[in-house]
Amino acid sequence: MSIQTVATKAFPGQRPGTSGLRKKVTIFQQPSYLENFVQSVFDTLGDCAGKTLVLGGDGRFHNREAVQTILHMAAAHGYAKVLVGQGGILSTPAVSCVIRKHGALGGIVLSASHNPGGPDGDFGIKYNIAAGGPAPESVTEAIFHRTESIRQYRISDAPAIDIDRLGVSRIEQMEVEVIDPVADYAELMRRLFDFDAIKALFGRGFRMCFDGMHAVSGPYAKTILEGMLGAPAGTVINGVPLEDFGGHHPDPNPVNAAQLIAIMAADDAPDFGAASDGDGDRNMIVGRKFDVTPSDSLAVLAANAAVAPGYRAGLKGIARSMPTSRAADRVADALGIPCYETPTGWKFFGTLLDAGKATLCGEESYGTGSDHIREKDGLWAVLFWLNLLAASGKSVEQLVGEHWARFGRNYYSRHDYEGVEAAAANELMASLRIKLATLAGQDLGHYVVDFADDFDYTDPVDGSHATQQGIRIVMTDGSRIVYRLSGTGTEGATLRVYLERYEADPAYHHLPTQQALSALILIAEQVGGITGWTGRARPTVTT
Ligand code: G6P
Ligand code: ZN
Repeated sequence: MSIQTVATKAFPGQRPGTSGLRKKVTIFQQPSYLENFVQSVFDTLGDCAGKTLVLGGDGRFHNREAVQTILHMAAAHGYAKVLVGQGGILSTPAVSCVIRKHGALGGIVLSASHNPGGPDGDFGIKYNIAAGGPAPESVTEAIFHRTESIRQYRISDAPAIDIDRLGVSRIEQMEVEVIDPVADYAELMRRLFDFDAIKALFGRGFRMCFDGMHAVSGPYAKTILEGMLGAPAGTVINGVPLEDFGGHHPDPNPVNAAQLIAIMAADDAPDFGAASDGDGDRNMIVGRKFDVTPSDSLAVLAANAAVAPGYRAGLKGIARSMPTSRAADRVADALGIPCYETPTGWKFFGTLLDAGKATLCGEESYGTGSDHIREKDGLWAVLFWLNLLAASGKSVEQLVGEHWARFGRNYYSRHDYEGVEAAAANELMASLRIKLATLAGQDLGHYVVDFADDFDYTDPVDGSHATQQGIRIVMTDGSRIVYRLSGTGTEGATLRVYLERYEADPAYHHLPTQQALSALILIAEQVGGITGWTGRARPTVTT
């Protein structure tokens, strides 16, 4: 067994997007493709001698092969130890948790999150830093530049090791410890939430349905909900991770989690429903015949955070991505704490969390989390809701209804135009940018534009700057239309149009969402020329 230096040629386009490098499995299967990227990560990090790396993924197709490759490359770069999840499995929040708990230099997450898996699906790789969160853009850009000039990579030629058996083995000088993927994470959850109260709630006959979507969170949910919290067997559905997620799209929204929505819409629906995505960092919260938007979920949790032992001391601040509704801002105001508005992408919360400026964070894209780790965390949000339901004795619908009555309701919807031709999507955005200067003050019928801009952000902690993060048209009553191109797709472009309207009067809190937003939807089409540019008369997905 020895360390080999292998000659390689650069691949174009290995630039990490919103959340790591994501490409079709077939692209990752090209000889040296993964190796080049991993070598570029290690080159960017510099000296890894004596350090610990955490490694795991969401179990999608190609996960196991990639784990072996990365283990053998880590051994060739002097790492003292790799902690790898059994079977190559670790949810994204669990990676973050394990990095922090074991003082690792960083971790590698193998996932394309909610993108479909299988031989024709997507694969992805992301590097997380010692704080537990995604590498900042300065690091991902350095990795990308390295991929452009790479000539060789180093790898051990030792045989593959058994990643299914817990315990320690070696590749070269490096220790490989196969760990229980759930244990450290479950222990952290137990410290944050009132497990006794939740257990008592299930003991009183409370019923729940958790949809694992055949992705990574199944084993976590089974251990914690059905094991530690005593929820009845069968509470977790689609709980076995499959390499192709059972052919489904593991994205917890009302469109892709249709089975859960149907269960929650039935007359004998359970009290509470939830789902998580491919790598376990997203969450969707559903009540009986009642969906909760991610933006409202963040606001409700923030307003009630004190019910959970981990947040009893109060919140330092709240952070949300720009397109996320401003429901949380109203809670922050009431609590007298700051609310930060960041670009889309969890990585932008990292500095705020590290600096102790924010405790809770959330995104409209079904992401919620806190300073307990540096990733968003699907099951954490579900447990927070369970803690709140147990402490209040109220239903999901009651809790949200009371929240609206107190703070007003931010009607909210996202319209996605998927698989649009990239050039047309870019032209739509470019033409909007040209219009920006003329929009302020315009009367668009029903609404007058207060200001319009292309969101740019200066990080209040490290001063880093991000430009062109989404076009906002903000009306004088605070209603908003935001246009943005997705940074996570792998086919063509996805245009996202985010619509938000604030309604203070409880008499108007129960309109169908699309109806409440209809005037804004029309304006979004008129100003953006969406149909003209995309050739689509309506969105592919509305959430
Ligand atoms: C990933 C990131 C999130 C982001 C989401 C949507 O899940 O971790 O932080 O909000 O992608 O990104 P997109 O660019 O597709 O709108
Ligand atoms: Zn995810």
